[in-house]
Amino acid sequence: MSHGARLLQGPASRRAEEPGRGRGRRVRNLPGVPQGFEPPPYPYDRLDALREVADRLPGGCVDLSIGTPCDPAPPAVVAALSGSDAERGYPPSVGTPALRTAVTGWLARRFGVEVEAAQVAACVGTKELVAGIPQWLKLRTPDRDTVLYPEISYPTYAMGATLAQCRSVPYGSLDEIDPADAARALCLWVNSPANPTGSLTDLPAAAAWGRERGVPVFSDECYIEFTWDGPGRTILSEGTEGVVALHSLSKRSNLAGVRVGFYAGDADLVHYLSEVRKHAGFMVPGPAQAAAVVALGDDQHVDEQRERYLRRMKTMAAALRTIGVDADLPAGAFYLWAPAPGPDHDAWKLAADLAERGGALVAPGDLYGPAGAGFIRIAVVQPDDRLDLVAGRLASG
Ligand SMILES: Cc1ncc(COP(=O)(O)O)c(C=O)c1O
Repeated sequence: MSHGARLLQGPASRRAEEPGRGRGRRVRNLPGVPQGFEPPPYPYDRLDALREVADRLPGGCVDLSIGTPCDPAPPAVVAALSGSDAERGYPPSVGTPALRTAVTGWLARRFGVEVEAAQVAACVGTKELVAGIPQWLKLRTPDRDTVLYPEISYPTYAMGATLAQCRSVPYGSLDEIDPADAARALCLWVNSPANPTGSLTDLPAAAAWGRERGVPVFSDECYIEFTWDGPGRTILSEGTEGVVALHSLSKRSNLAGVRVGFYAGDADLVHYLSEVRKHAGFMVPGPAQAAAVVALGDDQHVDEQRERYLRRMKTMAAALRTIGVDADLPAGAFYLWAPAPGPDHDAWKLAADLAERGGALVAPGDLYGPAGAGFIRIAVVQPDDRLDLVAGRLASG
């Protein structure tokens, strides 16, 4: 038995795979205090054992698990971080006028969509917004308690529901959503291009579905400029009534460490959310807002980044083929979503093989919901020479 396969069967891997058994990270309640919420292991912490295996190869682990950019942001953007003079005072929670105007300019220039600056607000990267939206919507509409989200998706949609003590109800397609769940829904999440599958959503259908049922539609579009199948599409092209689009500078401009994103759409929803968030003290730091203005004004670095990701996905797809794994290029985003071969389609075993033979850390698909089991996700977020290293290791057996 290979070491990777042993790992999957041994106690260490069981620890990694079973909810609530993350290596020493359990949060314990105080003695005598009633049992409350216990955060589950963070999805990527479940990969720690595989990381150790991959790290044993000369050259170390090539981390293709979390979608965190490795390439530099444009120098002018980095210069704006230190030269904005915006560090002294509190920044506006909703976003500076310059940022909101840069957003409306970007939406018009890149996607032909006109929205008012008042329909735009800033967030501290989009993850906190995704995680927080259910609780703020529930405060406003306490008789609803359900968050609808794609069954294979970024885990934070479901976690946001959990944090708000709401029901998280996954859906395969809009047609499958039970009318009883729709009637209780605080919101419907769509994500296009999607993490992890790279698929594109029928955004006009999603907007119409929400409007017909009075359910706000939140469209996470943080990979929009990494659309490979045709132009990038935003739900805002359907008009803004009842819909909100989320965007991030993290992926577009390699600024995940700066934490800046924004949301735009339905004037009433954006106003409500930005007011609540102002009370709660959510603010993108002033220098980060200034950097985002510069980044949003430039498309050349995005075009260069597109080329890098496309090239890297082709490298990794070819490397996977050498071990019998078929990974089609996605319609969008920078992840390969590949089925695990063999009769049992065991994605954890494939991830273990890739760690052991290729020194690559990839994400088994069940991190994105039970429906993702049987697939792995490979984020091409390492420089070319590191991907070549993986390809060479796999090719040499
Ligand atoms: C689909 C999706 N939405 C949102 C995010 C959050 O990105 P950020 O918080 O950096 O804007 C991610 C990050 O990977 C993502 O994949």
